[in-house]
Amino acid sequence: MDSDRVLIFDTTLRDGEQSPGISLNVAEKLEIAQQLARLGVDVIEAGFPITSPGDLEAVQAIARQVEGPIVAALARTHQQDIDAAYNAVRDAARPRIHTFISTSDIHIRHQLQTTREDVKGQARAAVAHARSYVEDVEFSPMDATRADLEYTAEVCRIAIEEGATTINIPDTVGYTMPHEFTTYLERLYELTPGLEDVVVSVHCHDDLGLAVANSFAGVLAGARQVECAVNGIGERAGNASLEEIVMLLHTRRADVEGLHTGCETREIARTSRLVSRLTGYPVQPNKAIVGRNAFVHESGIHQDGVLKERTTYEIMDATTVGLEVNSIVLGKHSGRHALQQALRDLGFEVSGQALNQAFKRFKEIADKKKQVSAMDLEALVTDELREAAVGYELEWFDVEASSRRPPHATVGVRTPAGDEVTGNFTGDGPIDAIFRAINAATGVDARLREFRVDAVTGGQDALGETSVVLELGGLSASGQGVSTDIIEAAARAYVRALSNAVRKVAETVPSEGPAAELEPTP
Ligand code: KIV
Ligand code: ZN
Repeated sequence: MDSDRVLIFDTTLRDGEQSPGISLNVAEKLEIAQQLARLGVDVIEAGFPITSPGDLEAVQAIARQVEGPIVAALARTHQQDIDAAYNAVRDAARPRIHTFISTSDIHIRHQLQTTREDVKGQARAAVAHARSYVEDVEFSPMDATRADLEYTAEVCRIAIEEGATTINIPDTVGYTMPHEFTTYLERLYELTPGLEDVVVSVHCHDDLGLAVANSFAGVLAGARQVECAVNGIGERAGNASLEEIVMLLHTRRADVEGLHTGCETREIARTSRLVSRLTGYPVQPNKAIVGRNAFVHESGIHQDGVLKERTTYEIMDATTVGLEVNSIVLGKHSGRHALQQALRDLGFEVSGQALNQAFKRFKEIADKKKQVSAMDLEALVTDELREAAVGYELEWFDVEASSRRPPHATVGVRTPAGDEVTGNFTGDGPIDAIFRAINAATGVDARLREFRVDAVTGGQDALGETSVVLELGGLSASGQGVSTDIIEAAARAYVRALSNAVRKVAETVPSEGPAAELEPTP
């Protein structure tokens, strides 16, 4: 392999999905995985199969249908975790099992409540068991940056002896600093026989805002795989952001001695939008690379400079990350064929009944908006994808809003069994009324935690995109909706969040299943 090539291991669907409130269903995970393949990531960590039947199903679907990247599944060192991971990835063209156990004394003593010797034994057995299934096995000593380095090196040596092909060094709690991480890895190479013969990987969390800087330090110290997530989502403050790592190596390639990734940078913006939409996690406006202001110049001096010569204030061209590349515009006279071609240009293969449905929604929107842009189409198709996958569906609604009496809403909702149920409620505001009317219709007593409205594009007739996070039975779930009518978009988002919440509650394994005894997820 090219020694300057840095592998991108995307963990959006595993560590990213562990962010509170994210509840992707199988179709949504598959859509994200297909887009990650278009982006050209090397490894997709598709899930943690032992945690739920839904996760297992999603990893299986990705392993069977997504071509290109290696498909990895996460497993603790327990035998049943590794069996579940293997079951999930076995049909992939290139399957990987990723097994982990903590090597820090804090974790060994307080969380695992065991000994260093036992951890060594578990690591040995787990890697050997995983290798009996697949050739590609990754091992992670969790919380490595807070662990005793000599001991961690010993555990890594055992993993390599048993056949691990990638050793991943996690900064699990985002504690390390770039210069410290460099020294750590240099010493790890000295202490671990065989480390130079496997791929060394880094997995950095962003608790101190250093995830990308630490990952970069890791690469400069010899790591050739970076674990990261789109938009930097993940546990707590998140993981290293994929787009930042990729664009750092791309933009400064002349200064990083040819280090490079295999990613198609022009797919970055679209991947970011898809992940943000499906997870319901907004991207902060000033976020590097993918924030909506990342290429916007507000001050007169900057605008003047950019108009004269773009490079005065821009180190990257927006088109390199896929912004402003698509000039597709459709109108109300555009036909089914034009829509299909436009969707194809955007990377969506839509035909048959799905095309009919997309065309119906497109016509409704085109009647209200003069021009339907690529961004509108993307929002619409993603919205249709959610429709195909959820349990409850919004059939119709009536909302009476006035400044002289409390707002009242009535809704009709189709249940997963196919019946139409109705409910009504007089609320504090029209959105409150419709949300509670949906609760009344479905008999599900969910609590609203977050509600957000964004415009897909600029302009008065922009499509509204809403995101709802709600809580049910101690679990949170999100849903999104798109429409020219904000109340409709809000109701759609609520019904989807409710469906996701009901599914999540149903999937929570009662007391004696294997998932019940899972330690908190990594
Ligand atoms: O943060 C962490 O340590 C992890 C491991 C499973 C790699 O996510
Ligand atoms: Zn992690």
